[in-house]
Amino acid sequence: MTVTLRAAVAADVDAVASIWYGGWGDGHFGNVPDELVAIRTKESFWERVPAKIPDTTVALVGDEVAGFVMVVGDEVEQVYVSGDHRGSGVADALLAEAARQVKANGHDQAWLAVATGNTRARRFYERSGWIDSEAFDYPAVTDHGPIPVSCHRYVIKI
Ligand SMILES: CC(C)(COP(=O)(O)OP(=O)(O)OC[C@H]1O[C@@H](n2cnc3c(N)ncnc32)[C@H](O)[C@@H]1OP(=O)(O)O)[C@@H](O)C(=O)NCCC(=O)NCCS
Repeated sequence: MTVTLRAAVAADVDAVASIWYGGWGDGHFGNVPDELVAIRTKESFWERVPAKIPDTTVALVGDEVAGFVMVVGDEVEQVYVSGDHRGSGVADALLAEAARQVKANGHDQAWLAVATGNTRARRFYERSGWIDSEAFDYPAVTDHGPIPVSCHRYVIKI
């Protein structure tokens, strides 16, 4: 299976929002405050994606968007693979590209936050060589102000 990476464009909004919405539930239900779950409605993902397109890289399998990453500065903000492309190497390609972008942004270390209870994602990062550096509260951005989420900070030297 060949995975192609490219910068996201406006036409990808629907695919990215759909993967983000589906994956957010998988990684976060039961792992973040109920208050945040109530705010992260289905519509909220479609509202947030257009402004994030410049930070987004998509992975294509054939013509289909199979996953995406969002990178800002030295932070890998989001890593998401659609349900039917998990366990297939798409995530590895995206995470490697995210680290490459952080390096291109002038940093020698990348970081990301993962919800403490998101064990599948944590195992994936650890298998990929990322180091669990600390537990901390990540301020999830909402229109009602930040909501602290129990997370772990993972880092990798690049
Ligand atoms: C986190 C994520 C990007 C990792 O990608 P992935 O393709 O699942 O990664 P892996 O191939 O390493 O598989 C991870 C685990 O799921 C298992 N798995 C793979 N495909 C699976 C499938 N279709 N169904 C169930 N389990 C599966 C793997 O065997 C592995 O299990 P292990 O950790 O017990 O060994 C992806 O799971 C995802 O998008 N999750 C939802 C969004 C999310 O939580 N993102 C991270 C936010 S910080």
